[in-house]
Amino acid sequence: MSSSDKAWKGRFSGPTDAFVEQFTASVGFDKRLYHHDIQGSQAHARMLAAVGVLTAAEAMRICEGLAAIEAEIDAGQFTWSVAREDVHMNIEAVLTERIGETGKKLHTARSRNDQVATTIRLYLRDQVDQILARLRDLMRTLVDIARNEADTVMPGFTHLQVAQPVTLGHHLLAWFEMFMRDHARLVDARRRINVLPLGAGALAGTSFPIDRHLTARLLGFAGVTENSLDSVSDRDFVIEVTADAALAMVHLSRIAEELVLWSTPQFGFIELADGFCTGSSIMPQKKNPDVPELLRGKAGRVTGHLVGLLMVMKGQPLAYNKDNQEDKEALFDTLDTLSDSLRALAELLPATTFHRERMRSEAGRGYATATDLADYLVRRGMPFRDAHEASGQAVRLAISRGVDLAALSLDELRQCASVIDETVFAVLTLDGSIAARNHFGGTAPAQVRSAAARAAERLQALKEIEEVAD
Ligand code: ARG
Repeated sequence: MSSSDKAWKGRFSGPTDAFVEQFTASVGFDKRLYHHDIQGSQAHARMLAAVGVLTAAEAMRICEGLAAIEAEIDAGQFTWSVAREDVHMNIEAVLTERIGETGKKLHTARSRNDQVATTIRLYLRDQVDQILARLRDLMRTLVDIARNEADTVMPGFTHLQVAQPVTLGHHLLAWFEMFMRDHARLVDARRRINVLPLGAGALAGTSFPIDRHLTARLLGFAGVTENSLDSVSDRDFVIEVTADAALAMVHLSRIAEELVLWSTPQFGFIELADGFCTGSSIMPQKKNPDVPELLRGKAGRVTGHLVGLLMVMKGQPLAYNKDNQEDKEALFDTLDTLSDSLRALAELLPATTFHRERMRSEAGRGYATATDLADYLVRRGMPFRDAHEASGQAVRLAISRGVDLAALSLDELRQCASVIDETVFAVLTLDGSIAARNHFGGTAPAQVRSAAARAAERLQALKEIEEVAD
């Protein structure tokens, strides 16, 4: 195509500078929007026919022509042109080449500004649905493993120091809760994505008698945007999804860090499957936790995209500005990264071996039942602060003897608090400690089993909501 074939050629006497053509083009990356661009154009054409701006025959030719182009792109047989700048103009120009004059009527009552806003919303709505499904897959995996590990005792940490015993099932359900909130945030963002901006034109609407509500219905949007200037200018819905994605990636990075730690010989809590690790080119003994490390690292790029998008939007005057073309690469990479990361974790976890004995023995070190001893003293009438001090003395004694609390004799324990009798030993065991935390939200195996059952029901409810929305 020569530069005199530009869609805007009427106003111009000189050709576009060759470098500027490259610099301003987005087709290299926005071609991935072709399906949603075509979907939007077909609905627009049908609406124009319904209000009498196009004839029914014209709308049909346009829709069929677009369908043929879509099939060609699907088959990898479409030639994209940088001179045609973006996905929208590439498709429209080829449509006109194929179906002739009628193709030129498609852009009636529309601008690329409301076209691109519509296209991104359609694309993002689909992508969010796919990510929500991935989140549900991952949560289902977590519930399944948590149910199996409801009785598995492990050390719970604060400050990465052994704090109190917990169950592995409880720990896994903590991860589940993070993803539940990520899911809820994306469902919420989806509501703001799911409105039609088409009809805003370049910025001020159109002089044609369009029916925006009809177009919205054809595209499955829940409503239409209220203000034409806002419709073409804001990308807050893109930023919102990216913020939600960054937070989900931060959750993934925290879990990944735990998996990295747990897989070290020092912790020895888990063994990652060979298929999820790599070796070292020099150190034969190494088995590196690459997948969790990448999950941890990828949180960085998504957070970077969030900051980048905020900066693209910052200070833009109403209405559309070309700055907004910069939204796409960040958004695409964010969605790809999050989707792959969720998949990686959902596949890695069921292939992971949990070393239950090692977890239990590590929970038995570090005086994890010291709080249970203090609570025991409180039940015998001692104020909690005094009980805390007495239990601390018992820990000091145990440290000096090089044994755990449960290995102290009754006489030694009674030196710390005279109200102690032989019933204390039940309290100082790991199973006693775990079983005692038997309240809603606690770590007792019985609680973890009912929490897992509730989690499964909550997941099922999400699925049903999703099915109603479809
Ligand atoms: N490729 C552009 C984008 O991504 C499409 C809209 C261009 N509109 C314009 N007036 N130049 O935002």
